[in-house]
Amino acid sequence: MKYNMTLTPEEEAILNGSQGETMAKVMKTLVLYGDAFGATKMVPVTSEKGHLVTSFGLKVMKPVYSLMDQLIEGGALSKQKFSVDPKPLDPNVPANFLQKTIFNKFMYSMQDSYDKQLADMGLIDDKSYTCTCYMEEVGNIPKKGDILSWAESSAVVFANSVLGARCNRNSGIIELFGSIVGKVPYFGLLTDEGRKATWIVEVKTTKKPEAQILGSAIGMKVMEDVPFVKGLDKFIGTELDGDTKAYLKDFGAATASNGAVGLYHIENLTPEAVEMGENLIEENAKVYVIDDAELERVQANYPVMWKNKEATPKLCFVGCPHLSHAQLIEWTDNVAAGLKKNGLKKVSIPTVFTAAPAVIDEFNKTPYAKKLADTGVILSYICPLMYMNNPLCKSMPVITNSNKLRTYTTSRYYRSDEILDIITKEAK
Ligand code: F3S
Repeated sequence: MKYNMTLTPEEEAILNGSQGETMAKVMKTLVLYGDAFGATKMVPVTSEKGHLVTSFGLKVMKPVYSLMDQLIEGGALSKQKFSVDPKPLDPNVPANFLQKTIFNKFMYSMQDSYDKQLADMGLIDDKSYTCTCYMEEVGNIPKKGDILSWAESSAVVFANSVLGARCNRNSGIIELFGSIVGKVPYFGLLTDEGRKATWIVEVKTTKKPEAQILGSAIGMKVMEDVPFVKGLDKFIGTELDGDTKAYLKDFGAATASNGAVGLYHIENLTPEAVEMGENLIEENAKVYVIDDAELERVQANYPVMWKNKEATPKLCFVGCPHLSHAQLIEWTDNVAAGLKKNGLKKVSIPTVFTAAPAVIDEFNKTPYAKKLADTGVILSYICPLMYMNNPLCKSMPVITNSNKLRTYTTSRYYRSDEILDIITKEAK
C-alpha cells in the first residue's frame, strides 16, 4: 500500500501483518486517515484510558456489530480500558407505550449484545457510560500533554482546552482503532502549531454570559478554528475549580456542536493560555467582539422547530453534557426554591436531569437526592439526544438548556433561568 507519512519499522511491520490480518487492517485505516489530513507520522497514545463515542445498540448499525466481532475474534482489542458515551435508554425516563415499543423492539434492539461487545473490547465497567468521563467520580481524567484517541466532541474539547491534553476531533470507530494500535496520526490539534489561536474573542458583556450561548456564538463564528477568549476571566475567575470547570464543560460543548471547535484558550485560565499568554495567538488573528446585544441576537436567531410554537412542553432535559455533582446540587436547590416561591409541590413539566452513573451514585448518598426526588424531577444516566433520535420524539415539544441538544434535535432552547421558571410555574 502507498502512503505518505513516515512509519517506524515496527509500525510498518504491523501494516504488513506482523500482528495478524485484523491488526494490519486497523493500522491501514489509521494510516489512510492520517494521510488524508497530512499527518507526518504516528505517535503513541499516552493517556491511561480511552473513550468511545458509539454507545448505542441501534438496529441499523449492523456493520459496526460485525466489525466488533471481527476485531474481537482477530484479537485486536483495545490496548487501554475505555469509557463510552451514555446509554440511550433508561426505564425511569418517561416514555409512553408506543415509544417504549419502538425503542426496545425496533431502534435499540441490539443494545444488550453491543454492551457485551464493548465489555469484551475493553470497557472499564458497566458504570462507565457518560460523555463526562473526565469527572472526578468517573475518573477518566487525562493529564496535561497526554495524547488521546477520543471522538466525543464535548469530551475532546474539554480535554484539549481545560486539561491541556492533545486530541483531534476524530470520528467514531477511528478513535477505537487508535486505542487498539496504541498510536494515532500526528496532525492538527496534536501539534504545537495546530494549537495556536486564529481568532481573538473579546467578551465585553455587562454580566457573566450564559455558557451555552457564549459557546454557541463562538462556535458559529470560528467554526473549526481555535479561539483565544479575552475578558471571560473577569466573570469566571482564574482558578480551574469545580464551578469553572462545569461552566467550561457547557461552554465547550456548545462551541463544538454549534461549530466544530476542538480547542479553545481562555486568557489567564486554561493551562496553555496561562503558560504562553498571547504567544498562542497567530499573527493576523481575526477578532470577534461579544457584547450583550450579540448574545441576545444569537439566542433570538435559534429556529423553533416545533409544529405548534405555542405548545405546552411535554418534557424538559437538563444535562447535555452530563451534569456535575455541584451542578446537580445547585439545580436541586433552585428547583425546590422555585416551587416553594410559586406554591407548587412538583415540577409542572416532566423533567429529566442527566449525569454520569458514578456522579448519580455519589449524589444519591447525599440528602439532596430526596430533595430532588420530592420535586418530581427524574435523575437519569441517558443521553437525551439518543432518546430524542426517533420520529415520535421529533414531534414532541421538548425544552432544554443544552445548545447541543437544540442543534441536533427538535428541542427548543431556553437559558437555565428560563427553564427554571418554566418548570417551577403552573403549566399554561
Ligand atoms: Fe453527552 Fe449525549 Fe449530550 S453524549 S453531550 S448527553 S448529546
